[in-house]
Amino acid sequence: MAVMLRLDKFLSDMEVAGRAQAKKLIRQGAVEVNGEVCRLPERKIQEGTDCVRVQGQEIAYQKFSYYLLHKPAGYVSSTKETDGPSVLRLMEGAYGRGLFPVGRLDKDTEGLLLMTNDGELGHRLTSPRHHVDKTYWAVVTGRALEEDIHLFEEGVDIQEKRPAMPAALHFLEERPGDGREAVCLAEVTVREGRYHQVKRMFAAVGRQVLYLKRVAMGPLSLDPSLGRGAYRPLTEEEVQQLKGAGRDGGKLFTD
Ligand code: URA
Repeated sequence: MAVMLRLDKFLSDMEVAGRAQAKKLIRQGAVEVNGEVCRLPERKIQEGTDCVRVQGQEIAYQKFSYYLLHKPAGYVSSTKETDGPSVLRLMEGAYGRGLFPVGRLDKDTEGLLLMTNDGELGHRLTSPRHHVDKTYWAVVTGRALEEDIHLFEEGVDIQEKRPAMPAALHFLEERPGDGREAVCLAEVTVREGRYHQVKRMFAAVGRQVLYLKRVAMGPLSLDPSLGRGAYRPLTEEEVQQLKGAGRDGGKLFTD
């Protein structure tokens, strides 16, 4: 259903200005609706139908904002700063009030982080009832072992009531440690988001994670063109795909 809202609220929701400043801009004649100056803050705007311009620039209405952030290590995926700078610091210039990260990446983990203010979608994507695939690249200690692929497939014991759900593990590369322990680059796809999930799964097979990066979540992949700390808005198609994610068991697994 198309959203109807007051012109001043429209401008403040789109973060053009605070509500008081928006009223001022409107009264000053800086705002046009459908090509005509409108000086009435209470004028009702219909989303998708009315064209609003501020100082000549069109302002498109979006109920919610969706961004893909390439989280660098050193930032916490929380809106609070209890243990370091929040990823919100990287979102300067992004539209939308109340952005929050969907799910958690550890402070030392890099990669794909979805930022939105759509609480319903955020909740659904992280709910344990909806299994959205998340793919990580991990540098782990030890050699590439077929046995670990099978253990991940069966679901490893991560010292909780329930073992981890089956996960897809592939070893991409093994570097023989010249005198030191070998390390592997592995790709792992999990369908849950428990605390330190990937690190604990590797710990369960006697490995340490030396580096971790999320490269995909449901239908979204991390753009190689998006440098650490950079973000971009999701396309409409990506938003629609995300809204369907987890309903059909994801990409790799079927329920
Ligand atoms: N699993 C982890 O152990 N850490 C993360 O940041 C994400 C998944």
